[in-house]
Amino acid sequence: MKKKKKTTASTLVGKIAPEVLSFTAGKDALLDHVLIEPDCIGTAAHVTMLAEVSDVLSRVEVGKIIGELVSIMRRSRSGKFKIALRDQDVHLAVEKALSKALGATGRKVHTARSRNDQVALDLRLYAREEILCAITEATTLVDVLLAFARKNAAVPMVGRTHMQPAMPSSVGVWASAHAESLIDDLSLLRGAYTYCGKSPLGSAAGYGVPMPVDRERTARLLGFDAAHWNVLAAANSRGKTESVVLSAMEQVMLSLSRLAEDLVVYCAPEFGYFVLPPGYCTGSSIMPQKANPDVPELVRARASSVAACCVAVNGVVAGLPGGYSRDLQETKEPFLNGVSITRSCLGVLGSLVAGLHVDKEALRAGFTPGVFAADAALRLVAKGVPFRDAYRQVKADPPGTAGVSPDQVVASRRVPGGPCDPDIGAMRDASKEASRFARRERKRYHNSVSRLLGVRYPDLA
Ligand code: ARG
Repeated sequence: MKKKKKTTASTLVGKIAPEVLSFTAGKDALLDHVLIEPDCIGTAAHVTMLAEVSDVLSRVEVGKIIGELVSIMRRSRSGKFKIALRDQDVHLAVEKALSKALGATGRKVHTARSRNDQVALDLRLYAREEILCAITEATTLVDVLLAFARKNAAVPMVGRTHMQPAMPSSVGVWASAHAESLIDDLSLLRGAYTYCGKSPLGSAAGYGVPMPVDRERTARLLGFDAAHWNVLAAANSRGKTESVVLSAMEQVMLSLSRLAEDLVVYCAPEFGYFVLPPGYCTGSSIMPQKANPDVPELVRARASSVAACCVAVNGVVAGLPGGYSRDLQETKEPFLNGVSITRSCLGVLGSLVAGLHVDKEALRAGFTPGVFAADAALRLVAKGVPFRDAYRQVKADPPGTAGVSPDQVVASRRVPGGPCDPDIGAMRDASKEASRFARRERKRYHNSVSRLLGVRYPDLA
């Protein structure tokens, strides 16, 4: 007799038609792999608190659960813990593994929580670590740009508006301008980090539970500043959190795309101001002479990708009612993508700029006589001529540039934040402070998790 085709798949939370399961789970079985550690850490905090406030779990049971959670984390790191479509998502996969290993003890862990607060928590824990990494990577790029600016502080570079030659400037100004833009973005990343500072754990499905769960306690165990006051606000923070983090990332990417575009243009042979480091250009399959700036081109394009991720998240969140809706699952992929794209762009540009070669002659050759016109007008002003008259005079009769050296002009322009004085010291301090902040916060989190798990985190030794 022919075997009947299975019409339902058994899951931890009921039977479901396979085609429906693959539709509703979407890409969770794949995407949720990055949430395995946050999920285990959140579960450890939850069971620790449960044992403190109730008789649901004993201390011995909590010890066993945490031991198993650590084992899941280790297995996941060596590729041996996989989330299957049948599991639906990381939360059910971890719960299933705990139940399999510990029987009734494992089947108790979901007391007084919901996947809604679990996923909101996991994503926050993930976001907090990623933001700190992004801050560190951004400060590394800032430091590289500042070192480049210092080394080339007085190297003349035409300042441009409308891409046309405009005023004398320097490589120092160019590089440290990009650094300052990123320093300004650091405050947005830090704002996003602060935004992620409240723990949603214990809000359960979004309405709390009739048990004395201690949300402040789990928040502290996980290194958060506090728990959400309102259980529904905790649930509603899903999606908004992702949007806030991506908005900060989007601004970082806007800064990077400007830097990338400058690199594409100024490395083109017609300018030749800079030469990309070997290994950062790609050849052409047909034109032997080519060394293409694919890396900055892709950074430029990926700024739009991150903006699109932000739009995708906002599109889901806008118009949602209060309380959990499955729509929120759709924010996961653009969120994870946007964060990972931003971090990889920060990383690649850091090493690219570190190896950037400066062609001083090409930079000097870019100085057309017009670049000195505004300076000439201002020299007349110094002699008492009203500016508008000086402007007209220079326009009608441009002074010759014989004997004018871009190097001298740049060297004599000692205005704060201008060529030769791009106020690198203050920027370096700002970068150091941000990098210290990220290190301190990461350490604080790792210490909290180490205490919670009873093994050193993140090494799990
Ligand atoms: N995978 C789900 C998500 O990302 C987890 C939460 C499921 N909650 C529910 N009520 N169906 O949103």
